[in-house]
Amino acid sequence: MARLLGRFLGRFSGRFSARFLTRIGLVAGAMVVVLVVAAAVPASAQQRNPDGSVNPTASSVTEDKLFQQLDRISGRCSIPDQKACTIEQPAGRDWRHFHEVTLRWIGAVAIIGMLALLVLFYLVRGMVRIEAGRSGRVLVRFSTFERLVHWMTASCFIVLALSGLNITFGKRLLLPLIGPESFSDWSQWAKYAHNYLSFPFTLGVVLIFLMWIAWNIPGKVDLEWLKEGGGIVGHKHPPAGRFNAGQKLIYWIVVLGGGAVAATGYIMMFPFYLTDVAGMQTAQMIHGIVALLFVAAMLGHIYIGTIGMEGAFEAMGTGEVDLNWAKEHHSLWVEKELGQGRAATPPPQAAGTPAE
Ligand code: HEM
Repeated sequence: MARLLGRFLGRFSGRFSARFLTRIGLVAGAMVVVLVVAAAVPASAQQRNPDGSVNPTASSVTEDKLFQQLDRISGRCSIPDQKACTIEQPAGRDWRHFHEVTLRWIGAVAIIGMLALLVLFYLVRGMVRIEAGRSGRVLVRFSTFERLVHWMTASCFIVLALSGLNITFGKRLLLPLIGPESFSDWSQWAKYAHNYLSFPFTLGVVLIFLMWIAWNIPGKVDLEWLKEGGGIVGHKHPPAGRFNAGQKLIYWIVVLGGGAVAATGYIMMFPFYLTDVAGMQTAQMIHGIVALLFVAAMLGHIYIGTIGMEGAFEAMGTGEVDLNWAKEHHSLWVEKELGQGRAATPPPQAAGTPAE
């Protein structure tokens, strides 16, 4: 019997000992902290007289008071990662407050605020129509490659946004609705998606930067466009090149915002290679804030590309836009295109229709 038990223990400790002992160490450490905090309550009671008044001569120092003085719980531990020996520290509490409270407020105000603005704008202005009506002729606006890059980046963005929002708001909003089992399954898949789709997303941001930089340098014409409300707020049609000031703004939000979330995201994905705990916390804060503002900005972009403006979606859908749409929103670009001999042609379906 004793030999059997010995053999069992030998095999058990051979396979699990290091990890198992570390875990036991952590659990024991956590229990000590809990006991210490629990013991602090009666200790504070000992500092009072039986009638409840404070006993000024009580010499016992409560753990609670020590914690208040030192502002941290840390000690010695036997595992290699010494960062784990600090269980609680002031910067960690600030970070937790940021994550649990401040970031949620920033996200809620930015995203709900943007949605409210868009609904209001739609109710007041409605869809921006092609005022001259459709011409029946189209101009090529984006190549197949450009559209492919756009949709690859956009679809990654949507999954990254939903899976990221789950980290910020899921515990509060989704967990009570779907329960812990489903929430942990979904969160695990969302986390995988967030990690893996970051790579095609980053590639997309780099390609967008290279592909369209030539048309996105701000110029004098952009100031005029902004002064006139871009023809979206009013009914004027200020001149614009291939991209107007509003689109240039979106371009730079994608390039700089995308660059910032990628850099800070990889710092978090490969922890402690480049920075320490404080740097990790800063990276997470920048990532969260930029990402949530990015989502709000993209809602505006999606609005104007769909229900906000007649004829806009076709540019990224078929790659061709109606000539009158182009003249109203990108007059300088149309002049250049026609000047270079690129003719406006009937749309493919009309060209294929036999004459009656
Ligand atoms: C290259 C791109 C990206 C990488 C490498 C990346 C990586 C990460 C990582 C590692 C985390 C921490 C996850 C965790 O705590 O387990 C995170 C959180 C998050 N990400 Fe990303 N991400 C990227 C792009 C984006 C984009 C495009 C968005 C939004 C559109 C986004 C939104 C968020 C949000 C909201 C959080 C949660 C912040 C928080 O509540 O702490 N991320 N990301």
